[in-house]
Amino acid sequence: FPIHKPKQEDWSFAGPFGKYDKGQLQRGLKVYKEVCAACHSMNLVPFRTLGELGYSDAQVKAFAAEYTVQDGPNADGEMFERPGIPSDYFPSPFPNKEAAAAANGGAVPPDFSLIAKARGVERGFPTFVFDIFTQYAENGPDYIHSLLTGYDEQPPAGMEIAEGTHYNPYFIAGKSLAMAKPLSDDQVTYDDGSPQTVDQYARDVTAFLMWAAEPHLETRKQTGFGVMVFLVLFAGLVYLTKRKVWADIP
Ligand code: HEM
Repeated sequence: FPIHKPKQEDWSFAGPFGKYDKGQLQRGLKVYKEVCAACHSMNLVPFRTLGELGYSDAQVKAFAAEYTVQDGPNADGEMFERPGIPSDYFPSPFPNKEAAAAANGGAVPPDFSLIAKARGVERGFPTFVFDIFTQYAENGPDYIHSLLTGYDEQPPAGMEIAEGTHYNPYFIAGKSLAMAKPLSDDQVTYDDGSPQTVDQYARDVTAFLMWAAEPHLETRKQTGFGVMVFLVLFAGLVYLTKRKVWADIP
């Protein structure tokens, strides 16, 4: 069966000068919280980092408190539940893997902390050679966006789809997956006037997942650019030094 190549999108964080769009990250967080968090955890992402999306400390505190997290053992050796605080991590909605699998027809929804970096589709020769020069590193985001918007196609005639799974030609590990189409138009309310469409939701939640997987992307790119400038200047200086040192040798 043919797996479709992800559609290549324009991401604000792409390229050597890429930056996250905070408004988009905030919308993505809303989609994650209202839709995806029903199944997917983000065990490596603490609430406190949401300050980077432009929220105040008070807002982060209030956001964390909307979650219930497991804590303990207490003095009596018992586990207990309490409202979240900023140093907690986005919890799983399921108590353990077995429960997660049981609720999802045997498949465990993967944790989202690094998903944008953990997925990608091989681009093949010669594309990957050009990718080095164009700094294309948005394989994961392109894949997630295509997966989320790729549910509406019908399976080709004669293709058998396993019961309880859903056809998606972009899925990399089979012709269908255990996750049903998670997004539909007008499902999440945006208060900044952005279109409430599956495509926009998918774009925003994908950008948010990229931020979760690589929160220091902007610093990395800025430092990288500075390093390149330095190396070019330094190479020039080394060349001039070499000419001077060897000037008298015929
Ligand atoms: C798998 C995204 C909502 C259940 C996945 C994968 C992604 C993803 C990227 C990995 C696909 C792969 O392995 O290549 C999302 C997003 C959501 C969302 C962005 C919200 C917009 C949900 C919801 C549920 C769910 C609400 C449960 C009702 C699953 C399951 C899998 C999965 C069970 C594993 C599928 C398999 O391996 O067959 N999801 N998901 N997801 N998701 Fe979601």
